[in-house]
Formats: sequence, C-alpha cells, structure tokens
Amino acid sequence: MAITADGKIAKNKDHFANWTSKEDKQVFIQTSKDFGMIMMGYNTFKTFPAPLKNRLNVVFSEKAGEELEGVKWVSGEPEKVLNELENLGFKKALLGGGTGLNTLFLQKKLINEIILTVEPKIFGSGLSLFNDDFDINLELLELKKINNNSYLVRYKVVY
Ligand SMILES: NC(=O)c1ccc[n+]([C@@H]2O[C@H](COP(=O)([O-])OP(=O)(O)OC[C@H]3O[C@@H](n4cnc5c(N)ncnc54)[C@H](OP(=O)(O)O)[C@@H]3O)[C@@H](O)[C@H]2O)c1
Repeated sequence: MAITADGKIAKNKDHFANWTSKEDKQVFIQTSKDFGMIMMGYNTFKTFPAPLKNRLNVVFSEKAGEELEGVKWVSGEPEKVLNELENLGFKKALLGGGTGLNTLFLQKKLINEIILTVEPKIFGSGLSLFNDDFDINLELLELKKINNNSYLVRYKVVY
C-alpha cells in the first residue's frame, strides 16, 4: 500500500492511485508479479482502467462481475477465499486494499506482513489504511529509501 505522510491511501473511494512515485509503482508491480496474484476490493478494482496484467486479479464483490481475462471474482469470508487460492496452488497471498478489504482481513488477523511506501504527500482527509479501532503492534522488518523523497517500510504484524 502507498500512503501519504499523514497515513492516507486515497482522497475518496474513487481516487485512482496515480499520485505515487515511479519507484512506488515499480515496487507494486514487482511485488504483485512475484506473488502472481493480488486480492482487492471492488472499489479498488473500479479505479483501474483495466485488470492488472500478468497476475491474477482476485476481486471481492457481492455482485457478479463480468467475465474478464485474468480476473477471479470472489465473495464472502476471506478464509474461504484464501483456501480457494491455496487450492489453485498459491502458497502466499498479496492483499492490495482498499480500506474496506484491509480492515476485514485485519479484523480476522489474516495479515502477517504490511508493506508500505510512504510518499511525500498530505491529503488531510480521505481513506486510511484501516477504518476500525485496532491496537496492534508491529515489528520493523525493513526500511529502505526508494528515491529522494519516498521510503519503503515492511512490518511484521504481532497479534
Ligand atoms: N494507496 C494505495 O496503495 C491504494 C491501494 C488500494 C486501494 N486504494 C484506494 O482505496 C480506495 C478504495 O477503498 P474502499 O475501502 O472504498 O474499497 P475496497 O476495499 O477496495 O472495496 C470495497 C468493496 O469490496 C467488496 N467487498 C469487500 N469485502 C467483501 C466480501 N467479504 N465479500 C464480497 N465483497 C466484498 C464490496 O464490493 P461490492 O459493493 O461490489 O459488493 C465492497 O464495497 C480507492 O480510492 C483506491 O484507489 C489505494
């Protein structure tokens, strides 16, 4: 997830994440291709002009989405979806937002690691990484400057 210095991921649910640095986009592309898949909520998927290529787009929605190449529509309990993905051969899963889906997975303690790129921006208002009341500890796994103004931080979630 890309976040602003004040912890926002978007100004609103329709805000396409094109405000991030080229290096953030490279991290995102590399990470999601390494995983071979990315899970996201429908609002996030809707912000993209087209499905992300060369990796499975696992899109959570209660509506039946149109058949699109590279897209798997899923719904319901995240544990059930993770089982389905495991049966497809995925050993690990990447969650790519937005706030709604992140919150659901954290409520269920299904997030092991968090990868953030912190971008030199302030939105002041908008969507946060999560939107419930949590008190969860993190351990720093990695901290790396990715350009003159942005850094990547990776945390382990300690439940
Ligand atoms: N900065 C970043 O790195 C980053 C990354 C990702 C997203 N974002 C931003 O986040 C914003 C979207 O976040 P959001 O919180 O509004 O929405 P979201 O989490 O992307 O999507 C929420 C939608 O997902 C579906 N959903 C969630 N849980 C489900 C479940 N268990 N079963 C079936 N469907 C489920 C529902 O869609 P239905 O209504 O279709 O049922 C729900 O309305 C966008 O602005 C996007 O650009 C930013």
